[in-house]
Amino acid sequence: MNNKYKTKSQMVLYFLKGSVIFFVISMICSVLVTFFELVSPKLVQYTVDYFLVDVADSSVPSYIDYVVDMLGGRDYLRAHLYLMAVVVAVCAVATAFFRYLFKLFNSIAAEKFTRRMRDTLFEHIIRLPFAWHSENHTGDIIQRCTSDVDTIKNFVSEQMINLFRISVRIAVAMYFMIGISKYLTIFSAVFIPIIVLYSCLFHRRISKGFEKADSEEGRLSATAQENLTGVRVVRAFGREAYEKERFETQNYHYTNLWIDLIRTLSAFWASNDLISGLQVMLVTIIGAVLCVQNGITVGEYIAFVSLNAMLTWPVRALGRIISEMSKAGVSIDRLRYIMNSEEEKDNVDALEPPMNRDIVFENVSYKYGNGTEDVLSDVSFRIKAGTTFGVLGGTGSGKSTLMYLMDKLYDLPESVEDSGRIMIGDVDIKDIKRSYLRRNIGLVLQEPFLFSGTLSENIAITQSDVNLKEVRDAAKIADLDEAIRNFNKGYETYVGERGVTLSGGQKQRTAIAQMLMGKPPVMIFDDSLSAVDTRTDARIRKALSETTLGSTVILISHRITTLMHADTILVLDKGRVAEIGSHEELVANNGIYKRIYDIQKQGI
Ligand SMILES: Nc1ncnc2c1ncn2[C@@H]1O[C@H](COP(=O)(O)OP(=O)(O)OP(=O)(O)O)[C@@H](O)[C@H]1O
Ligand SMILES: [Mg+2]
Repeated sequence: MNNKYKTKSQMVLYFLKGSVIFFVISMICSVLVTFFELVSPKLVQYTVDYFLVDVADSSVPSYIDYVVDMLGGRDYLRAHLYLMAVVVAVCAVATAFFRYLFKLFNSIAAEKFTRRMRDTLFEHIIRLPFAWHSENHTGDIIQRCTSDVDTIKNFVSEQMINLFRISVRIAVAMYFMIGISKYLTIFSAVFIPIIVLYSCLFHRRISKGFEKADSEEGRLSATAQENLTGVRVVRAFGREAYEKERFETQNYHYTNLWIDLIRTLSAFWASNDLISGLQVMLVTIIGAVLCVQNGITVGEYIAFVSLNAMLTWPVRALGRIISEMSKAGVSIDRLRYIMNSEEEKDNVDALEPPMNRDIVFENVSYKYGNGTEDVLSDVSFRIKAGTTFGVLGGTGSGKSTLMYLMDKLYDLPESVEDSGRIMIGDVDIKDIKRSYLRRNIGLVLQEPFLFSGTLSENIAITQSDVNLKEVRDAAKIADLDEAIRNFNKGYETYVGERGVTLSGGQKQRTAIAQMLMGKPPVMIFDDSLSAVDTRTDARIRKALSETTLGSTVILISHRITTLMHADTILVLDKGRVAEIGSHEELVANNGIYKRIYDIQKQGI
């Protein structure tokens, strides 16, 4: 963990780069909306008082006199009252216009902000170490990048902006209302904290219900998804009735949760209506009394009642916004965890030494970050440059781990005394640049993964452009060319994320072809022929041995026939070196290797 983003706001501000100007413009527009909206009741007030009722001049500000004079004088306007209606209409148009601009700029800002968040997260996540990825669940990471990103987007583009808008609205309305009657304003204002507090408390309570409904919905869709993807298993085991019942029970719970939620929501809206109604009633009655007693004019009364009504909805929304804002804090922290995780980094003086050298493991011991026991203990061996090296071992004996360490997918701890070191030539791999090392060590992973795209795109994934001849050559060596040509679309066959159109063995062979394209000096095949039959295995090995001349080849397998022709074979047993030597030496040794060999020979 580094602490790049020490506080939540520091990270949000970083994400806001590039969109902040749009947010500012949208905020200015929202102030203008508020102004034009709230000025209408004032216009009505002046129309009534100035032209209809003819109140004393003193209650009308002097700038109104100036404006009236400009428009042709009081008598002229009185004779042409429609002009006032035109002014009110102009205000309405201005409100609509600025509201449009507000929405537009707010949406642009929100989308730019979200895009920056997604881009930054993605760029950071793909640079995080392999170890980080194996410690953090993919589902959780995706959730953080989708729903937490959405929560933060809403927080900034809706909640923060609305908080600002509503505050401005309340301030402007209050200003106008105080100008009319301080006494009446007190009656109106006293309800604001009550309504805000009430809806704040209510929303805090109901948000738990929403969370429950969310997780229930998650479970429901997980069940549906599991059944869709695992439809073959469901059919094969005749589990339809059981699965149907499971789904129905979950669906029933989910529906009931919603009904409960709606019941609580309805009660809230009804009671909130009551409080707001009470406020409107009080303001209307006391205002009327004041008006009759000449405390305020008729125009002022009308304006006050309209301004008061204009506050009802925003004040209610304020409570909800405040209570929802607390959720964003959690989401921001969840993203901060990702953003503060350390990316893979090389030392500034990282080396790029020649790679066609001996590879030496010196007393390597390793345990995974979350494990307690050593997965590898005191492993030492030498792989001579340009030879073929076999690694044999039972499941979980640490074969793949050896290769991950060599490729620096996991890093050996700093201390050489405790955990040993891995050398290529006379350079410790700790000092080698990661990208250089990985470019030069071709690793065919045990569980190959194909990206959504065509077969040729997948095979040429390490290349900047697809050269079909090279792709075919690689596929031929991997014994895949013929199979591909039997597909309708050949090399243009689309393979999905899960590579559903390919068999396990075809996928493995695609991964082999993929690696061969790079022609790396070190090639590792981690159990890469386990899903093909022994004859194909032999064919591929023969083709490989012809093309990999000069490269160091490491073959990992459970199957002795795959390894027996290697120059040297390492037998790994529970993370320790059990035996090492050529096939003949190991057979003569009469140890584990010989035992496995005898068992497998009988099986053939
Ligand atoms: N990312 C990981 N985090 C924690 N433990 C792990 C991790 N990967 C592997 N292990 C553990 O390390 C041990 C060695 O695993 P490894 O994958 O190296 O075995 P393997 O010899 O390749 O087995 P197989 O033949 O089944 O592929 C196992 O006990 C495994 O559970
Ligand atoms: Mg393995």
